[in-house]
Amino acid sequence: MTDTERAAELIAHAERTVVFTGAGMSAESGIPTFRDALVGMWENHDPMTLASPEGWTADRDLVWDWYAQRANDVRRVDPNDGHIALAQLSVAARIDGRAVSVITQNVDDLHERAGSTVASHLHGSLFAPRCESCRRPESADTALITPRPMCPLCGDSLRPGVVWFGELLPRDAWAAASDAVAACDLMIVIGTSGVVQPAASLPERAHVQGVPIIEVNPEPSELTRLATIRLAGSAAETLPRVIG
Ligand code: OAD
Repeated sequence: MTDTERAAELIAHAERTVVFTGAGMSAESGIPTFRDALVGMWENHDPMTLASPEGWTADRDLVWDWYAQRANDVRRVDPNDGHIALAQLSVAARIDGRAVSVITQNVDDLHERAGSTVASHLHGSLFAPRCESCRRPESADTALITPRPMCPLCGDSLRPGVVWFGELLPRDAWAAASDAVAACDLMIVIGTSGVVQPAASLPERAHVQGVPIIEVNPEPSELTRLATIRLAGSAAETLPRVIG
């Protein structure tokens, strides 16, 4: 049996699958990853300027405009065949009384636009801006606007709804992810380098529980050592083949 066939068999028989995704999931939609050489976002931008509370305090307009640009970029692209295959897997599983929980580190909305319900956006969302003072949530479309809008309720500044380095993960997202991992009997890890904690501890937990892990990534990652099956290919090419 090939690795692809073994993976397809595991997926077809799992009762509670967790799908754990990172930036590589959206790469073939045209959204750059963070750490890939030359094309990665952190190759060309300083994360401490653009993705930390200190960077935000130093220049709110710069940071807001960067996320607004990213939100506009995401609106212009489409989910890829990998996102679509995962949505099809969720539908097929639901019909059979099985569960698929998508946990993503991505701040785009491409899983949702492909038709998946996302159980957990661990790192927040480009489309969930909120007031930095009173925390009132604003509409998704507000995230696309420049110059930086102010909170209609308290007049203070809105901020992007993403998690920055040094910030805690949203409590609900972490709880939903932890619950899904505790209950899963299969994990599919797609397109993540596995270097950012605590997100990367989720596959570790599944591994300790004895859960088989399928990794989809053209390159080895920090999580490859945990993988039962490693499918060395891209998300958009590999997922339709194993899920079909
Ligand atoms: P990284 O940029 O660290 O890793 C992307 C991974 O995707 C790498 O392992 C690539 O080999 C893989 N990859 C590239 N193209 C792929 C493709 N077409 N199909 C499948 N895999 C592919 O991105 P993340 O692991 O998501 O945090 O990064 C984790 C977090 O670091 C992000 O959520 C973000 C960032 O700072 C926050 O925004 C808080």
